Amino acid sequence: MHLTVLLFVSALSVATFALDNGLMRTPPMGWLAWERFRCDIDCENDPKNCIGENLFIDMADRLAEDGWRELGYVYVNIDDCWSSMQRDKDGRLQADPKRFPGGIHKLARYMHDRGLKLGIYGDMGTHTCGGYPGTTLDKIETDAQTFADWEIDMFKFDGCYSNASVQEEGYPRMSKALNATGRPIGYSCSWPAYQGGLPPKVNYTQLGEICNLWRNYGDIQDSWSSVLSITDWFFENQDVLIPAAGPGRWNDPDMLVVGDFGLSMEQSRTQMALWAIMAAPLFMSNDLRTISSEARNILQNKMAISINQDVLGIQGRRILKEKSGIQVFWRPLANDASALVFFSRRTDMPYRYQTSLSKLNYTTGNYKIYDVFTEKTMVLKDSTDFVVSVNPTGVVMWYVGAPAKRNFRQFYRGGRLQGSAYDDEDNTIKEFFL
Ligand SMILES: *[C@@H]1O[C@H](CO)[C@@H](O)[C@H](O)[C@H]1NC(C)=O
Ligand SMILES: *[C@@H]1O[C@H](CO)[C@@H](O)[C@H](O)[C@H]1NC(C)=O
Ligand SMILES: *[C@@H]1O[C@H](CO)[C@@H](O)[C@H](O)[C@H]1NC(C)=O
Repeated sequence: MHLTVLLFVSALSVATFALDNGLMRTPPMGWLAWERFRCDIDCENDPKNCIGENLFIDMADRLAEDGWRELGYVYVNIDDCWSSMQRDKDGRLQADPKRFPGGIHKLARYMHDRGLKLGIYGDMGTHTCGGYPGTTLDKIETDAQTFADWEIDMFKFDGCYSNASVQEEGYPRMSKALNATGRPIGYSCSWPAYQGGLPPKVNYTQLGEICNLWRNYGDIQDSWSSVLSITDWFFENQDVLIPAAGPGRWNDPDMLVVGDFGLSMEQSRTQMALWAIMAAPLFMSNDLRTISSEARNILQNKMAISINQDVLGIQGRRILKEKSGIQVFWRPLANDASALVFFSRRTDMPYRYQTSLSKLNYTTGNYKIYDVFTEKTMVLKDSTDFVVSVNPTGVVMWYVGAPAKRNFRQFYRGGRLQGSAYDDEDNTIKEFFL
C-alpha cells in the first residue's frame, strides 16, 4: 500500500462524522447562477439573462435534455437576488413576484418532474450580499420551514452583513432547523470563508458535523488568475483541508467557470482536473443554452467525473512542486486505483516532464493508465521512465488502475528499453514509445 494512503487513513479516523442527513455522499453536481448571471434583475431589458424563473427553467431543460443529468449534474441552484425586498405579512421570505410569478414551490416541482433538484440561497446577516432580506437569528426556523414547504433540496447560507458571534450561533442552528423540518436539504455554509478559512478560527470538525459543504475561500471570477489563486490557496493549505473532507462533507473551491469567457481550453481542462482531484462540488456557472461543444466535452468527461465522484471521497493532494513549474497532484480512489494530474504553470511551450511511477511513490507493479482527456490507454511499470508533454497552463490527467498481477512485455528499440505494455481486454500486446 502507498505510504500516503496510510497517512490519510489515520488522518480520516480523527474526523469521520458527517452531517446526518444522508445527502451528498459524493460531491454534489449541478448548476449555480451566481458567477455567470450575478444580480442581473433587469428582466425588462435582459429577459434571457435576468435572475427569474425563466433562467432556471431554461437551465433545467438543458440539464435534462443535453446529457447533463445522466452524468450527475442534477442541482439547479438559485443564488442571491431572488427574493422580494420585503418579507410577507407572516414574516416569511417571498420570491420577487415579477421575476418569479409562479413562485419557488412551483419551480421546485418543475425540477422534480425532470429528475432535478432545486437549491436556494440565504444569508446569515441583516442583508444578503446583494442587499436583500437576510436570515437574522430570529428568522432561522421560519426560513428553514419556508424552504422545506417549498420542497427545496439544497440551501446555501452566505455570511455578508453578519459577524463572528452571529455566525457561531447561526450556522449550527440553521443545521438543526433544517433537520427539524424533516426534509433532507443539502446545507452549504459560507461560514469558513468569512473567517479566513483556517484554524483556529475555523473548526473543520464542527463544520463536517453541521454542513454538507462549505466555501473556504473567496468567490471565483471568470479569469485564469482567479482559478490559480483559488487552487494555490487550497493546495497550500491541503494538510488542514484534506482531513475535513469525506462523504457528506466537502470543501468547496467554488463554481466551475468552464464554458464562460475567461479560460482557454487548456485552462478549462485544468480547472476540471483539479476540481476532480480536490473532490470538489461541481457546480457549473455558465450558459448551457449557448455553451461550446469543446467546453461541454470537458464538463461531460466521464472519467474526470468518475474521479471526482469516487466513493471513498478522499480529497487529493499536491505531491510535487518542481522548479520547472510542473506540479503533480494525486488522489487515491476506490479499488486501489488513483488519479494523477501533471499541471504546467509555465507560459512558454509544452514542457516534456520526465518521471516514473516509482518516483511518484507508486509501489512495484504494472499499472494500466487511462489518459482522461485523450482517452488513450497504456500500461506502465513502476520503474519505467516516461515523459508527459504538458501544455502551458494545461494538464495531463491520468486514471491509474490498480497494479496488475500479470506479467507484461517490454519493448526494446536499438537495444534500449522503450516501454512496456499489454492489453487486458483482447490479450494482445500493444506498443507505446516514449
Ligand atoms: C436529522 O438528524 C437525525 C439525527 O442526526 C437523523 O437521523 C435524521 O435523518 C435527520 N433528518 C433529516 C431530515 O436531515
Ligand atoms: C454582532 O452582530 C449582532 C447583531 O447584529 C450584534 O448584536 C452584536 O453586537 C455584534 N457583535 C460584535 C462583536 O460586533
Ligand atoms: C471543534 O468542534 C468539535 C465538534 O463540535 C469539538 O468537539 C471541538 O472541541 C472543537 N474544537 C475546538 C478547538 O474548539
